Amino acid sequence: MTFPVRRMRRLRASPAVRRLVAETRLAVEDLVAPLFVREGIDEPVPVPSLPGVMQHSRASLVKEAARLVGLGVPGLILFGLPEEKDASGSQAWDPYGIVQVALRDLAEEVGDSAVLMADLCLDEYTDHGHCGVLTDAGEVDNDATIELYGMVAVAQADAGAALVAPSGMMDGQVGAIRSALDDAGHADVAIMAYAAKYASALYGPFRDAVDVTIAGGGDRRGYQQDPRNGREALAEVSLDIAEGADIVMVKPALAYLDVIRDVRQRFDVPVAAYHVSGEYAMVKAAAANGWIDGDAVALEHVTAIKRAGADIILTYFAGELAEVLGA
Ligand code: PBG
Repeated sequence: MTFPVRRMRRLRASPAVRRLVAETRLAVEDLVAPLFVREGIDEPVPVPSLPGVMQHSRASLVKEAARLVGLGVPGLILFGLPEEKDASGSQAWDPYGIVQVALRDLAEEVGDSAVLMADLCLDEYTDHGHCGVLTDAGEVDNDATIELYGMVAVAQADAGAALVAPSGMMDGQVGAIRSALDDAGHADVAIMAYAAKYASALYGPFRDAVDVTIAGGGDRRGYQQDPRNGREALAEVSLDIAEGADIVMVKPALAYLDVIRDVRQRFDVPVAAYHVSGEYAMVKAAAANGWIDGDAVALEHVTAIKRAGADIILTYFAGELAEVLGA
């Protein structure tokens, strides 16, 4: 008697059948492109540790946004680099701060054809590089910080952001932002909470991109999550949803696929994942050395993030992938 081998290979035999049975279908609609805009420059400045990524001038930002939207990318998330930083990060809520003026430019250019998002944090704007204001003892002051986040949210919404994305990991930040937005007549502006954001070593190139150095060699372990903890992420997510988060995010992505999966299974709001700067930079660096096929690895990595359960993926590969995936 012959052993009845189940022929798994039948459904792998041709590109057509593989396409038919594919469980995960990455599409351009899944992607959000991070963009950086820098005050006081006339030409875009390349970020050496993020090949292909620029600090944009206001004019080059508008062009790049139009290109991405033309490729079908449905969301853009904006980060700003102000010329002047101070202890409280006041450029973050100044109506003429760089992100606010850039949001107005983009709202005019892109209109309703993509979701305009603003990262909501203070680290790009503070002279000490922390995500909030400091107490006299040098600790990040949670409650004073979330009050400022409310002001930032209103300034961003006034400037045309359809969605704000708080990334500071302060307790109560989502609730504070929701009430500030509602009180200012911005009940329609959505919140995508960086809910489970880890104190990761993978943000290095991003800090080059935004010119942020944490004073005194400090870190963010006092407010971002410990990479050893998975269940804690579910507690963070459920608090953020209770406070009014419309979308919850896990960040970084590849080292936290288990967390993405758990959040997807446990909660019924859209789940975003941020494929962060270090994840992008590693692929680009290895590809530049000829050690891997960078395009193939990018597709494999971002597909894996979707397979794990992410509905929305923020990635520096958005433009490149959009060209491959088509609108
Ligand atoms: C904070 C913020 C960071 C990133 C997004 N928002 C940096 C940090 O927490 O230090 C990192 C994104 C990336 O690495 O691509 N404003």
